[in-house]
Amino acid sequence: MRLKIAVFVSGRGSNLEAIIEAIEAGAVGATIVTVVCNNPDAYAVTLAKAHGLDVFVLSHKGMSREAHEAKILEHLKSRDVEFVVLAGYMRVLTGKFLAAFKDPAGYNRVVNIHPTLLPAFKGANGYEDAFAYGVKVSGITIHLVDEQVDHGPILAQRAFPRLADDTLHSFRERGLAVEHALYPEVLAAIANGGVASLLLRDGHGHIEAVARSEK
Ligand code: GAR
Repeated sequence: MRLKIAVFVSGRGSNLEAIIEAIEAGAVGATIVTVVCNNPDAYAVTLAKAHGLDVFVLSHKGMSREAHEAKILEHLKSRDVEFVVLAGYMRVLTGKFLAAFKDPAGYNRVVNIHPTLLPAFKGANGYEDAFAYGVKVSGITIHLVDEQVDHGPILAQRAFPRLADDTLHSFRERGLAVEHALYPEVLAAIANGGVASLLLRDGHGHIEAVARSEK
């Protein structure tokens, strides 16, 4: 059975494109049953339509967070979505939304990609913030989503260097190449065996408990 995923986007959609290509190449056992976007002008919408995908565009402007999410949830239900994949979706999800994707094992079936080694440089400007700080090594994090911003159990991290002659542009390009490889790999693992195989134990054994109850 292929995992039914919804990909959430707000902008350019390069991660969406990488995921689409990996699925088309047979590398990920998932089907994108819908693409959700809060920005009608996003290139990601054009991209998704060009691939013949179901697209749900709903601007958040002039709507309460709850009302916006309620409409999206209704749509996801109609598409039978099993896992939500955030790919540059620049909105914070409420606990109510996450509760709709709570797995019996205790985590939320919502995954996010962030362009730094979390917990460093959370927020909307990860590349800029890490570059400006002068890090020599940065990286990409893919994590399950909880109610805090850019926070939740880590599924994968992959580092990349900042080179001496890097500009912000070349630094970001190196990171994006890592994003585009890592997200499909993690989604393939989720589709194959669930998140258990990707989780490590935290200091209190909580994450291990999630992993155990999933087996
Ligand atoms: C990506 O770099 C992603 O890691 C980042 O937004 C960009 C979206 O690019 N996400 C965050 O910063 C989340 N806090 P894309 O639309 O080309 O995939």
